[in-house]
Amino acid sequence: MSPRTETLSPPTAPGSLPGIGHILPLLRDPLSFMTSLSTVGDVVRIDVARMPAYVVTDPELVRRVLVTSDHDFTQGRVYEKLSQFLGEGVGTTSGRKHRKLRRLIQPAFHRDRIAEYADTMRTAAENMVADWRPGQEIAVDSAMNDMALTAVTACLFDTEMGPRASAEFRESILTLFHGAVLRTLLPTAWEKVPTPGNHRYRRAITVANRIIDETISTYRTPGHERDDMLSLLLAARDDDGDGLTDKQIRDQVITFLFAGVETTGATIAWALYEIARHPAVEKQLHEELDRVLAGRPPTWKDLCELRYTSRVISETLRLHAPWLILRRTLREVRLGEATLPEGAEVIYSPYALQHDPRFFTAPSRFDPDRWLDDRAATQPRGAHIPFGAGVHKCVGDVFATTEITIALAVICSRLRLRSRSLRPIPEVAAATTHPKGLTMVVEPRIGV
Ligand code: HEM
Repeated sequence: MSPRTETLSPPTAPGSLPGIGHILPLLRDPLSFMTSLSTVGDVVRIDVARMPAYVVTDPELVRRVLVTSDHDFTQGRVYEKLSQFLGEGVGTTSGRKHRKLRRLIQPAFHRDRIAEYADTMRTAAENMVADWRPGQEIAVDSAMNDMALTAVTACLFDTEMGPRASAEFRESILTLFHGAVLRTLLPTAWEKVPTPGNHRYRRAITVANRIIDETISTYRTPGHERDDMLSLLLAARDDDGDGLTDKQIRDQVITFLFAGVETTGATIAWALYEIARHPAVEKQLHEELDRVLAGRPPTWKDLCELRYTSRVISETLRLHAPWLILRRTLREVRLGEATLPEGAEVIYSPYALQHDPRFFTAPSRFDPDRWLDDRAATQPRGAHIPFGAGVHKCVGDVFATTEITIALAVICSRLRLRSRSLRPIPEVAAATTHPKGLTMVVEPRIGV
């Protein structure tokens, strides 16, 4: 056998300890640990306690996993755990089942629809800002998550739930988010222990399911069709004329909320933080917003004119991206020099790729102009993938960038948010990377 075709085990990351593997660096500083792995190899073995997992650090090989050889992989362990509450959501299924679901949900994310949702997103941002007063401290991370939840819920259901149901729904969805992330990490046996947390989680599932089911049943009544995402899900038919069952629709609704709220909320929060820390960026952003909007509220049509705002968002998505996404091999797979066994957990990290100095000069620097056309063209394909790639690429990418742009335009054309402290905010690696404890103070913009 020639050395090129030989079966090779990938190198193991340094720092593994007997019995616990790489748990310590994963708990202490997961983002630095993941980012460090590209110096070890293109595919690197890490041990999550006794479970081996393989981190792919080379953009071309990540592309193979997600795009060209995606038939060799299925969604991994985290998705398996998430399916307990996401059910058969588009994000947790693979293969034919996934393709069918994806085709059925796609119309709800069509560009023409998002143009319609833009007004709903603007209302959510305007309602949030209307309550802010100069000098007020805002817990930015939670405020942006709240606004993102309001925006996605309003795009899904163009209906008045009533204040009680609306508050109940909100609370149960937030309990579900946090419980689900915890459950991907804890042993399955823990879920059966009668703790108050487990009780709250089970109750939250019952409440969220009940509210969604009742809404679906109302919409199924003739004459109740609306112009929202839920109506599009109800009307969707594939080539065989099959639609989605009520249970499948509920699973997609929960999936959109789970996948679309904290990711979008955290990105808006990070953008506000970076804008406040970079006065030259803030100045250019204000100039663009004043020139394009001239004091009026932002609309879908304005988005293509907000080019600098778009670069600020791309750079925020590069610097503060999802940090850990899993796949599992369906058979033995050759990846570069490495051969992975069937059933191996494979990890790709948009965060680590997007902080790799091989592809981004001074990767920790916030520099929106690296997204100017001529500079962006020099980046290798697949190094910037905040929304993933291939068949599972984020179906909500345009929805998210529209919502982020509208929110920044509403906030920054009227107000400035200032950090109280000059110290950098720690990045917390949860389902996405969060600005932990980001509190900012509202200031009016002089002359606006
Ligand atoms: C800044 C905001 C967002 C980021 C960074 C983001 C990121 C991602 C990434 C990386 C994936 C691929 C996961 C994988 O490879 O398995 C994904 C999938 C997905 N996202 Fe997003 N997302 C965002 C916003 C949204 C929004 C607003 C929605 C919906 C309203 C959404 C819905 C989904 C769904 C349903 C999937 C699964 C797609 C599939 O498996 O076919 N996301 N997202």
